[in-house]
Amino acid sequence: MTNPSFRRTAPIVLRSIRIWSGLFLLAFVTSHLINLSLGLITIETMDRARPYLSGFWSGPITGFLLSASLISHFVLGLWALYVRPTLRTNTQDIVQMLTGMIVVPLLATHAIGISMLADAGVDFGYADTIRLFWLQAPALGLMQVVMLSVVWVHGSAGLFTWLRSKENAGRLLNWLYLLAVIVPVFALLGYAEAGREMLIAGQAGANLASNPAIPEDVVVPFAQIKQVTRAIIYGSIILVVFTLVARFIRLILQKTQEVILVRNGGQEMISTSALSMLSGFQHNDQLHANLCAGRGRCGTCAVRVIRSEFPLPLASELEQRTLYKVGAPEGARLACQLTPAGGKVEVQAIYPADYTFEDARPTETATPSEVPA
Ligand code: FES
Repeated sequence: MTNPSFRRTAPIVLRSIRIWSGLFLLAFVTSHLINLSLGLITIETMDRARPYLSGFWSGPITGFLLSASLISHFVLGLWALYVRPTLRTNTQDIVQMLTGMIVVPLLATHAIGISMLADAGVDFGYADTIRLFWLQAPALGLMQVVMLSVVWVHGSAGLFTWLRSKENAGRLLNWLYLLAVIVPVFALLGYAEAGREMLIAGQAGANLASNPAIPEDVVVPFAQIKQVTRAIIYGSIILVVFTLVARFIRLILQKTQEVILVRNGGQEMISTSALSMLSGFQHNDQLHANLCAGRGRCGTCAVRVIRSEFPLPLASELEQRTLYKVGAPEGARLACQLTPAGGKVEVQAIYPADYTFEDARPTETATPSEVPA
């Protein structure tokens, strides 16, 4: 049997690992995009900045942290998909979920490819990369552009969801929205300009193996990289399919009870004990505040329980902390974390459905509760 204190703290630890590994991967991608944008100056500038931007990640410590972040972020993403009671959610969450399936395998193939070249003693600079992607293997170059776009969309969506659940992030978010557009646009412009520079330099048709900057045996690492890349992509697809099948079986085997939800004294909504209260509202097309999209971080889905036919499950450590953080009134619960076991539950929403942290404090909040930290 699982230790109860482990069960209480595990969601908080897993949540922290997911956030920090995601931030680490986003920093990795951002530094690469900034390096690419220097192509607007010259390819030589890109290469001069390489040790401090993209090259920085191939060190032993950063390389280890990068691998650990890739694996943990992917595994936790699969776990989140497995335990998710419903796939019905808002558009941003769907985009984040779908891009999350492919983002880590895509990044892993890039990071592993670079480290395999380094292990083979090949210093593959930007001049070689641009020549390869623009002149010798344009399809591969296009794939890199798609990869960066997918990774950027996923990372930005995750960052915004995380920051939106923070009370004082409003001003920072305005700047980040701007950067989320500027950084990839400049990177793509830099990539295009570097390609143009390569064409003008008259290097079209240059043979990769005969380039004096690259050892002749570079073809061998490339063949190995292709094999490893294929293995990572197929392995990831198998893991995602396996997770979806396991989730499907879990939902079929799950015994459920009918739950009747009444919010703000309105009409009765039919839900089930397999769904959180928030998902129950969403399944009934009822808008309910959820700035962090049900991750238990923002507290905006909080409700005051008026009555429940059956005893409600106790609040987890994560739920208690968030309720305490937002100063929710006594007896409040997070709709995204509360899964009633059955019967009729009547609640009062604490925040308006369209609440954002720029708005005034919630009208229902009386005094901060005594929920322990
Ligand atoms: S939706 Fe953010 S805590 Fe429930």
